[in-house]
Amino acid sequence: MRQAIQAHELSVAYGTALILHDVGLEVRDGELVSVVGANGAGKTTLLRALAGLVRWEQRAFRHEDVRMGGRVWFREERIDHLPPHEIAARGLILCPERRRPFREMTVCDNLLAGAYLARSRREAAERLSDVYRLFPILRSRSRQRAGTLSGGEQQMLAIGRALMGRPHLLLIDEPSTGLAPLVKGPLFERIREVKEMGIAVLLVEQDAALSLAMADWGYVLSQGRVVAEGPSENLLGDDVVRQSYLGL
Ligand SMILES: Nc1ncnc2c1ncn2[C@@H]1O[C@H](COP(=O)(O)OP(=O)(O)OP(=O)(O)O)[C@@H](O)[C@H]1O
Ligand SMILES: [Mg+2]
Repeated sequence: MRQAIQAHELSVAYGTALILHDVGLEVRDGELVSVVGANGAGKTTLLRALAGLVRWEQRAFRHEDVRMGGRVWFREERIDHLPPHEIAARGLILCPERRRPFREMTVCDNLLAGAYLARSRREAAERLSDVYRLFPILRSRSRQRAGTLSGGEQQMLAIGRALMGRPHLLLIDEPSTGLAPLVKGPLFERIREVKEMGIAVLLVEQDAALSLAMADWGYVLSQGRVVAEGPSENLLGDDVVRQSYLGL
């Protein structure tokens, strides 16, 4: 299996606060990898660094107190100096935490907004039908204003919109935040189906039990460091990891 993404010694500091310390991480093509960790562990910062947003923020706003180090390869090409839109165009798409849809636009138009990189109208239509196949509820709500969707449906819309960018690797930040336990399970099932569509997934979650249960490989992040990694069933079966880091 080829590598989808690989990061070496990734570090991010805001002023004197070191948020990520020498993080190493790898996702292979078609794999589902889960990063788990408590509030403030650095999970969102990790995804934003991989997607080029930390460096962009540093340059665009001349934030001199933001420092980033390390190397990132995506499909065997160095990407750590590329701007976010070029990284996205290569197929690395981020579905951010608590992404809200454009509330006054229809579900369908929200999805089409995610296809801005599509080469043709036909290609966008094909992507739309893939998303509707994965989330039939979005098809039945396609003409409805997105603001009227339930929390779970809005999260499906956010993932659907990211899929409209035709990712090779999809980064998903905390999809289950704020959702009722009954809604989480089916949402995670859909994320597993994304992997079955041949798309690699890097999933960040606080719900360690649920996300590791369906992942191929897991990383435990604590205070900006990778403190454990391995096949996810090994992490779930390790009493020290469970008690110290997963709260299980
Ligand atoms: N732009 C920023 N400027 C300064 N500090 C930041 C910035 N972004 C994040 N941090 C700090 O970095 C640390 C890690 O934040 P991050 O959002 O990556 O954690 P997280 O693991 O995603 O947490 P959560 O589970 O709550 O989403 C926190 O202490 C946060 O305050
Ligand atoms: Mg976060």
